[in-house]
Amino acid sequence: MILDQFPRHPLTFGPSPLQHLKRLTQHLGGAQVWAKREDVSSGLAFGGNKTRKLEYIVPDVLASGADTLVSIGGYQSNHTRQVAAVAAHLGLKVRLVQEKWVPWDEPVNDKVGNILLSRMMGADSRLDDAGFDIGIRDSWKQALQEVEDAGGTPYAIPAGASEHRLGGLGFANWAFEVAEQEKQLGVFFDTIVVCTVTGSTHAGMIAGFAALEDLTGVKRRVIGIDASATLRKTRDQVARIARNTAELIELGRDLRDDEIQVLEGWAGDLYGIPVESTMDAMALGAQLEAMITDPVYEGKSLAGLIDLVKTGDIPKDSTVLYAHLGGQPAINAYHSLWS
Ligand SMILES: Cc1ncc(COP(=O)(O)O)c(C=O)c1O
Repeated sequence: MILDQFPRHPLTFGPSPLQHLKRLTQHLGGAQVWAKREDVSSGLAFGGNKTRKLEYIVPDVLASGADTLVSIGGYQSNHTRQVAAVAAHLGLKVRLVQEKWVPWDEPVNDKVGNILLSRMMGADSRLDDAGFDIGIRDSWKQALQEVEDAGGTPYAIPAGASEHRLGGLGFANWAFEVAEQEKQLGVFFDTIVVCTVTGSTHAGMIAGFAALEDLTGVKRRVIGIDASATLRKTRDQVARIARNTAELIELGRDLRDDEIQVLEGWAGDLYGIPVESTMDAMALGAQLEAMITDPVYEGKSLAGLIDLVKTGDIPKDSTVLYAHLGGQPAINAYHSLWS
């Protein structure tokens, strides 16, 4: 296993904090629930999971001599906001394709929250009417070409940084960070719950925890909660990126099917549209723990965790770790849910 050999450009304050969610645990009456907070671990425009992925991509950006990062996401993409933040931090330009991934017609949807922050940080952020898709898009290839035609040197970062060769490394390393923190705190998380859409967060964790299992002999469940509502595509993408990342870090074996679990049931019918369980989970997190989650991603994975604990699927004697991946700036674009 050679994870340590990949260069990493630090963009966070250090290990993301762990928090025992005592009131939520008591309310659910089952497993002990903790959170690992990617949402408060970086000073770069509120951070989140993409910042950790970008730590392993930035060395490649710098080595390439590129002057412009080119990426893609929805109007309220947390990913493109973090790419814009990293570009500002490094003194690079950034060109963003922002697609209409969500049919959410609040008039400020394409103006506030993440897109506002990206524009404040100097991103050339352009809207595109195309709907949700986690795959590679022509509009993004065209943006890369446009940067080149204008004399720039683009660096391509796909949606969620997931289809990038190094996109899984940040969360493979997360697994080892968890193991270090467990030693310090004297806890053991037998179950991890994480939101999954473009896939490389969950996939990286799968590869990292597989490597940890091979070192320690201790198994855990790493459960991805689908928030894409295009389950088959996300499942395939998670499996593919997990296997690629495992190969990259020289895991030395194939991943077992039981190591790749993407559960459905909390995404609703459409990416980005909250359903009743999302709203209930967001309210519980906010009202019991002042832990703010968003209606696109974290509200859906929190809903999954809550149900799995309540039904005993995650048993009472478990200690479960909820990966809080950020995403709060988007709530501004969803203000009608609460007003
Ligand atoms: C807040 C938040 N949670 C979860 C995810 C899902 O992560 P991934 O796309 O790596 O599956 C994203 C990004 O897509 C996100 O911004």
